[in-house]
Amino acid sequence: MAETNGTIHSAPADTLFSPSLISPDVVSALPEGYSMRPLQRTDFDTGFLDVLRVLTQVGDVTQQEFEQRFDQMKAGAGGYHVLVIMNGEGKIVGTGALIVERKFIHHLGLVGHIEDIAVAKDQQGKKLGLRIIQALDYVAEKVGCYKTILDCSEANEGFYVKCGFKRAGLEMAHYY
Ligand code: ACO
Repeated sequence: MAETNGTIHSAPADTLFSPSLISPDVVSALPEGYSMRPLQRTDFDTGFLDVLRVLTQVGDVTQQEFEQRFDQMKAGAGGYHVLVIMNGEGKIVGTGALIVERKFIHHLGLVGHIEDIAVAKDQQGKKLGLRIIQALDYVAEKVGCYKTILDCSEANEGFYVKCGFKRAGLEMAHYY
């Protein structure tokens, strides 16, 4: 079940998300005879994995593995790891999050997304940011992520380079 703008969108048992989230305008713009729908649990042998192979290596995913990953995605299984640093007075002075994304590609690979890193202004420059990233890196490695990625401003690039990250790709966005 997903909620957008206060509307509850419930999905049939074998459908990853509610078909009501598929844009009718987009569907009507498809070529004659084409259609669009959410991924279904029965899509193991409907060409889905082969399409992903155009993008990158997928590996030998069995039907059972496919269905298991589908079920995990649908259940939203354990993706969020938010941690905090507290000062000696019990006050939180830093935080960061690792969100674990479950994929079909790279043989059901896991990718960590580092988000929302912040250190209180008067605490910056004490390596707290570095510790947060190191802690999140640890979580990512422990849970089995094959990589961790993040988006940041040019101004923060130097910080992440110091934390062992390197520039890769280009961020693009749509804001709603
Ligand atoms: N540019 C270049 N180098 C930097 C920067 C920077 N902006 N910030 C820190 N560094 C360097 C430090 O000098 C230090 O280098 P050293 O090892 O040679 O001494 C190293 O990076 C580690 O610095 P820390 O002391 O651990 O950094 P700090 O605790 O100040 O935290 C942070 C850095 C998190 C960017 C902090 O300044 C902050 O909270 N900024 C505001 C919020 C923000 O921009 N968060 C990141 C958003 S991106 C995201 O969330 C994915």
